[in-house]
Amino acid sequence: MTLVYMKTVLDKAYKNGYAVGAFNVINMEFLEAIITAARKSASPVILNIAEVHLPFVTLDNIVPAIKAVAGRERFDIVLNLDHGLTIPTIEKAISLGFTSIMFDGSHLDFDENIRQTREVVKLCRPWNITVEAELGAVGGAEGGELIGKADPAKYTDINQAKQFVNETGIDALAVAIGNSHGKYKGEPDLDFDRLKAIRDVTGIPLVLHGGSGISAADFKRAISLGIAKINFFTGMSEAAMKATADYMITAGQRYNDYPMMMNRVREQVARVVSEQMDIFGSCGKAAADLTETKPV
Ligand code: 13P
Ligand code: ZN
Repeated sequence: MTLVYMKTVLDKAYKNGYAVGAFNVINMEFLEAIITAARKSASPVILNIAEVHLPFVTLDNIVPAIKAVAGRERFDIVLNLDHGLTIPTIEKAISLGFTSIMFDGSHLDFDENIRQTREVVKLCRPWNITVEAELGAVGGAEGGELIGKADPAKYTDINQAKQFVNETGIDALAVAIGNSHGKYKGEPDLDFDRLKAIRDVTGIPLVLHGGSGISAADFKRAISLGIAKINFFTGMSEAAMKATADYMITAGQRYNDYPMMMNRVREQVARVVSEQMDIFGSCGKAAADLTETKPV
């Protein structure tokens, strides 16, 4: 198979009441762990590469590896630029064959966010590439402090959401409803009434960023109210660091200590991803309609 457009998997998830996990790839170990989990669960999967992670992962090297994986596997794999911030990076992702772009204009005022998001839609449309954009601002700073907090003043405005979707022509909307990147300070407190209202006025698949730390019950409720994509990174990162720390206790005895440690990382990241796929309800939903795939 080839990489699949994100719109294809999200529309299917939205209609059928489950969500597809979008997991950040920061190296080969994470890529292989995510793919192993998706294969085991027969689940569609979205591979996120975030612009803030570009100092850690080389696009020109990882994208051919992702295409090779997609060519072999029998489940839907989407390649999404996560939190695209600049036009050169977005253009680079398009030229490399990403099947989805998330433009993050959350730092812009409303009119400017509309204007720049429209530009991104214009760049992506000729290639049929899916566009996700953010309105309001998800808490925490991707790439900043580990513990974040959502600011209610920056939650997605319901009326603006309707206008934003109409005027930009985006395929999916990332909402700010109390969700936050990194670890939550206290329990997450999601504004489900707002989510339902946004779903009712927009009618397009909604995206929940800041997935790590949200309970299974909250995920299920959010999915029932229009969330079709869930972004998840910190939980994988923590599992990888714990696997490393645990291994280091007895390290220093074996020739292959380092590769063995990285295998533990892969196992633990795959475990976390599998658990999330189970909660999101995407297991067993792998099959792509081959007519909707894009040659890369
Ligand atoms: P977490 O790191 O909080 O899971 O959020 C991931 C995310 O939203 C990536 O865009
Ligand atoms: Zn995010």
